[in-house]
Amino acid sequence: MFNIIIADSYDKISSEAFRILKEIMLADSPVLGLATGSSPIGLYKKMIADHNTNGTSYAKAITFNLDEYIGIPAFHEQSYRSFMHENLFDHIDIPEENIYIPRGDGEDHAADCAAYEAELAKYHIDLQILGIGSDGHIGFNEPGTSFDSLTHVTDLAEQTRKDNARFFDDDIGQVPSQAVTMGLASIMKARKILVIACGANKAEAVYGMIKGPQSEECPASILQSHDDVTVILDKEAAVRL
Ligand code: GLP
Repeated sequence: MFNIIIADSYDKISSEAFRILKEIMLADSPVLGLATGSSPIGLYKKMIADHNTNGTSYAKAITFNLDEYIGIPAFHEQSYRSFMHENLFDHIDIPEENIYIPRGDGEDHAADCAAYEAELAKYHIDLQILGIGSDGHIGFNEPGTSFDSLTHVTDLAEQTRKDNARFFDDDIGQVPSQAVTMGLASIMKARKILVIACGANKAEAVYGMIKGPQSEECPASILQSHDDVTVILDKEAAVRL
C-alpha cells in the first residue's frame, strides 16, 4: 500500500523524509536500511543538522546499506562506502561496528553475499530508504531480477551505467559493470519503506512502481505487495500518476 506525498521543493521532500525517520529513531535500537544516490542526500543533511543541534544520537542505531560496486576498492572515491562516510557516517555518532555495507572487493562474492544476508537475518530493518533508478531498479536490482532474490551479484544495466557516469568523469568506461546488492526479497522484509524520487527522468519508473503491472521488468513494482510504503516525490517525478 502506497502513501504518496508530493512536495514542491527538494527541501520539503527531505523534511518529510526526515519526519518519518525521526519517528523510527524513537526505538531503542533502530535498524535503518540506507541508500546512496542523490535522492537521500537532503535527508542525510537533516540527520546531521539534527544530530549537531539537538544531540539526536545514533550510538545505538544499526545500519545496512543496499549495495556496493564490484571492481573498485572499498574506499575508492566513488565506492558507496566512501559515499556513506562522506555524506553521513563521518558526521554522526554511529559506531563503526554498527555499520553494514555489502562487500564488493572480496575474493569470493558468493560467500560475501551469503555472509551479508546472514547478518541481515539477525535484525529486522525498521525503515528502508530507497531511491529508484530510471529503469525501475531499487538497490541495484535491475529489470529481470527475481522477486525472490536475496543479496547477490548483479550486472549493471547499460541505462544505469549511463545514469551513473556523471560520478565517473562522465566516462561510462570507468563505471563498474557489476555490483553486489540486497535482493528484492531482502528489501521487502523491512517493516516500513520510504522511496524518494525527484525529476522528470524518474516519472516512468515511478508510474511503473505504483500503477504499472507488477512485473520483474519493473523491479520497484514489487513494492505494490508491501503494506507500508511511503513515496515522496516532486511534481516532475509524479507527473504520470
Ligand atoms: C543508484 C543506486 C540506487 C539509487 C539509484 C538512484 O543506481 N544503486 O540505490 O536509488 O542510483 O539514484 P539517484 O538518487 O541519484 O537518482
